[in-house]
Amino acid sequence: MTDVPVTAKIALTGGRDFWHTNAVPEADLPAVMVTDGPHGVRKQSGDVDHVGLGASEPATCFPPAVGLSSTWNRDLVRQVGVALGEETKALGVGVLLGPGANLKRDPRCGRNFEYFSEDPYLTGELATALVEGVQSEGVGTSLKHFAANNQETDRMRRDSQIDDRTLREMYLRAFGKVVRESQPWTVMCSYNKVNGVQASENHFLLTEVLRDEFGFEGLVVSDWGAVWDRVKALKAGCDLEMPANAVHEAATVRAFEAGEIDQATIDTAYERIERVMRRAAATLADAPDTFDEAAHHALGRAAAEQAIVLLRNDGVLPLSSDARVGVVGEFARTPRYQGAGSSRVNPTRLDNALDRIREIVGGEVPFAPGFSTNPKVPAPADAVSDAVAVAKDADVVLLFLGLGEAHESEGYDRKDLDLPAEQLALLDEVLAVNPNVVVVLSNGSSVLVPFAGRVRAVVEGWLLGQAGGPALADVLFGLVNPSGKLTETIPNRLADVPSYLNFPGDTTGVRYGEGLFVGYRGYDKTETPVAFPFGHGLSYTTFAYADLAATASDDGLRVEVTVTNTGDRAGREVVQAYVSKASSAVVRVPRELKGFADVTLEPGASERVVIEIAADELAYWSVLDAAWVIESGEYTVEVGASSRDLRASATVEVAGNEPVRPLTMDSTVVEAMANPVFAQAATAMMQGSIFGASDNDSLGVDAAAMLAELPLAALVGFSGADPADFQRLLDAANASAAGAA
Ligand code: BGC
Repeated sequence: MTDVPVTAKIALTGGRDFWHTNAVPEADLPAVMVTDGPHGVRKQSGDVDHVGLGASEPATCFPPAVGLSSTWNRDLVRQVGVALGEETKALGVGVLLGPGANLKRDPRCGRNFEYFSEDPYLTGELATALVEGVQSEGVGTSLKHFAANNQETDRMRRDSQIDDRTLREMYLRAFGKVVRESQPWTVMCSYNKVNGVQASENHFLLTEVLRDEFGFEGLVVSDWGAVWDRVKALKAGCDLEMPANAVHEAATVRAFEAGEIDQATIDTAYERIERVMRRAAATLADAPDTFDEAAHHALGRAAAEQAIVLLRNDGVLPLSSDARVGVVGEFARTPRYQGAGSSRVNPTRLDNALDRIREIVGGEVPFAPGFSTNPKVPAPADAVSDAVAVAKDADVVLLFLGLGEAHESEGYDRKDLDLPAEQLALLDEVLAVNPNVVVVLSNGSSVLVPFAGRVRAVVEGWLLGQAGGPALADVLFGLVNPSGKLTETIPNRLADVPSYLNFPGDTTGVRYGEGLFVGYRGYDKTETPVAFPFGHGLSYTTFAYADLAATASDDGLRVEVTVTNTGDRAGREVVQAYVSKASSAVVRVPRELKGFADVTLEPGASERVVIEIAADELAYWSVLDAAWVIESGEYTVEVGASSRDLRASATVEVAGNEPVRPLTMDSTVVEAMANPVFAQAATAMMQGSIFGASDNDSLGVDAAAMLAELPLAALVGFSGADPADFQRLLDAANASAAGAA
């Protein structure tokens, strides 16, 4: 290591080209390839780009995060991770660039399909499982995009302006969980600014939070092109700039020679990169160069089966295989199965729903595309009349609607949440000739479903990867019992979305004005009706919940509930546990997901489901203490089938860990009165004052309430007491509290 010249070390802090790190011959370190990610390997061998335009080698396209997350199945996500790791290795790649742990703050974000949820707990759990799976194969992941990169509009510059508590509890929490639990080999810093500082130059985020608090041991890589100044980035804790940038490299050498960056900073970055790349190189040195395509396709299909969310069903589903169905909608034949941009995978094969429907029915099924999925390519003139003809002749119409690639993509946000107007018009035409319509949706982020009550069933297929088509068909015909649940709310109107007033901001920044009230936290607080709530998803069977028990210990909460399959077919239920605290010293959201488990039950069978909630999950970020604090007192645990289908609730007493905050002149009367020494002295003092006068009830005011929030400094001023005497009282009160603690 000492033999490596500083120029070679500096060279290693930037890429060799678009997808490789530099080799360091002096250290016997080879160049290593890193590539996207997250739901498949995008290994480009020809022209390179970071927005998914150029071709790449075939790899399995698993369901993107929007689909994968809807399974709420940690084990399945881990298995997908293992398969991704195998493919990464087989394709000679050392680090797969994913998963993305950004929160879905607003359904318009063009990249939501790559993110897991509007909830940080769920995001953290599933991203952890994916990282564990990939890395178990001896290759790395890149947890991205750190941090607060929740929109595509102006993504390389926009300043995400977020208060401390919201930043910690909503936007950093999932990253912290993944880092602590699975140590991704790399973390990718995002393009945007966070509270005024470019993420790649953000010492607070990259060093104080990520390393000092979360304990991150790997290397920080920049998003592609996110570094504006490599010297500043290195000093902040961004170790590796990607892709290659010769100008930045030369500037770093000059800065070193001028003494503007020290050897230790360069050594630290160098060592972190070297360690990770050596691990990757060791794996790749004797990795097989093939993977089991058929097995991975099957795994992708199994994941898709659990990802499909049955939103509404009046009993029309499941269809019997002898039903006379007509299929309408291009997506049945040409699936929309992944998002556009850097994550685009060249699939090993691509199956559609239409072929599988024909297979199940055992014959020809009438089909009409009805519309074009590309707004630039108009549908043929007779598209609608053909579709209506198919609909007229059928007992049930399976209408495949959704968003095409041009409608949502990395690099830009949607302007609205609507399905394309021609598809909505087609739906009306079809309904006019046949009321038995089942809508099947393909989309990367929520769309409005104002038609849900006018059709007989709605199936949300999200983006399901290369094997998603047959999985959809199997759900429609009941060969698979649906069990996916929403990981994002489907609102009734765009204007209902909590971030509506503050998205996407302007050149002065984007204010995260809704604070903690993201997604269901916001809809629940304002009691806003939604089309389908967070956590919702139907089954062809039914489940009953009974005998909820919640107990607290130093480790956290243990929640137990008995779930029974009360229907007549086997099914999987995702049991969700939400926690709330009605009486609190700080602003609280109505309820937060803090645990979940899934259970598969035969008809009539029951199981006692146990959900452990770690004590840390109960903590809130105390701005006053700049620390995570668990508040003491009564908490409510609600358990159910969605955030708005809560079947049982229990309360539990939690012993918190609030720090003792010394009283100061800034403390309010009510805060000070909680201290017995102060309370005794103050009560005596007040007896002689107007606040203590017994006749002030006649004024018709609550004097105690008026007084409660007075800062002590003001109280002293009004009372005419000697501030020095008062300070002595505070000192005595603080000393007694410290003695008691
Ligand atoms: C994306 C990253 C991606 C990188 C490399 C960027 O544009 O934001 O997610 O990993 O390109 O393709």
